[in-house]
Amino acid sequence: TAQASEAAAPSTEAAKKLVIGFAQVGAESAWRTAETQSIKDEAAKRGYDLKFSDAQQKQENQIKAIRSFIQQKVDAIVVAPAVSSGWDTVFKEAQDAKIPVILVDRGVDCDPSLYSTFIGSDFIEEGKNACIELAKAMGEKGNIVELQGSVGASAATDRQKGFAEELKNHPDLKIIKTQSGDFARAKGKEVMESFLKSDGKNIQGVYAHNDDMGMGAIQAIEEAGLKPGVDIKIVGVDGIKDAFQAMVDGKYNATVECNPLLGPQVFDAAETLVKGGTVEKWIKSQEGIYPADKAQEALPNRVY
Ligand code: AHR
Repeated sequence: TAQASEAAAPSTEAAKKLVIGFAQVGAESAWRTAETQSIKDEAAKRGYDLKFSDAQQKQENQIKAIRSFIQQKVDAIVVAPAVSSGWDTVFKEAQDAKIPVILVDRGVDCDPSLYSTFIGSDFIEEGKNACIELAKAMGEKGNIVELQGSVGASAATDRQKGFAEELKNHPDLKIIKTQSGDFARAKGKEVMESFLKSDGKNIQGVYAHNDDMGMGAIQAIEEAGLKPGVDIKIVGVDGIKDAFQAMVDGKYNATVECNPLLGPQVFDAAETLVKGGTVEKWIKSQEGIYPADKAQEALPNRVY
C-alpha cells in the first residue's frame, strides 16, 4: 500500500500489495466478461486485494460502490463508467480522500483534473473504421440500420459519431433507422426484429456498436428467412470469438477490434500513481480491423 511504501525498508513484495476497488458496469457482453476476467486475473497475479462491484448497468450503483471504496480507504479506484455524465461529485470525493481514480474502457465528460487517466480505445476511430468496412461489404450502396450501444455511454455516442462522420464520404449509403440494443445480444435481436418488420426489404446493411448485438442481428435475419452476411451485410465492434466464427461461416462481414484485456495496463498505472508518479492522461489501446477474409487465420488466436 502507499503507507507500506513509505515505511523504512519495505520489501518490493509488500510495497506492491495494493487494495483496489473496481466499479464495473455489468456483464452485458462477451467483451465485458473478458475485461472483468483480465482485471481479476491480473490482480490475483500481483497479489492485490481486489474489491469488485458489478453495477448491473446502473450509474447509481457505481457511485455507491465508489463511496464504499473511499470509506474502505482503498489505494486506487478503477471505474468503467456506465454513462459519461454525472461523475464530478463522487470523483471529487475520491480526490479529497487522495485516492486516484482510473477510468477503464469508457470515457467521461467531467472536469479532467478529477481523474488520473483513461485507459481504453478511440471509439470515434472505431466508428469510422466500422463505416469503411461496411461500405466495402455493401459495395458502397444501400440502406443501413444501426444498433446503438447503451444510451449515454461514451462507447455508444462516439461510435455513432465516428460512423456518421465517415458516412459523409460515402454518398450512396444511408442510415434509415437507429435504436439502442443496450450492447446486449437479446436486445440487439429484438431491435433488429422490429427493424425487419418495418423495413425488411429496404435494409442492406447493419452497423452494430458491438458484436454481441451483431450476433443478435444474425439470429433475427435468419428467422426472417434471409441470409445474414449475404442478403444483409453486418459489421460490428469488439472482435469477440463468436464474430470470428460467424465470419468463417459467411454470416458476418467485419469486426473492428476493441481490446478488453486491460488488466496489466490498469495496474501498471495504479502502481505508478500510488507511488506518487504520473501517467499519460489517455493510455490508448492498439487495435486491429478484421474483414471476413482475415477471420479464418485469426480465429485460433482470439482469446475472448
Ligand atoms: O465500453 C466498451 C463496450 O462496452 C464494448 O464494446 C461492449 O461490448 C461493452 O459492453
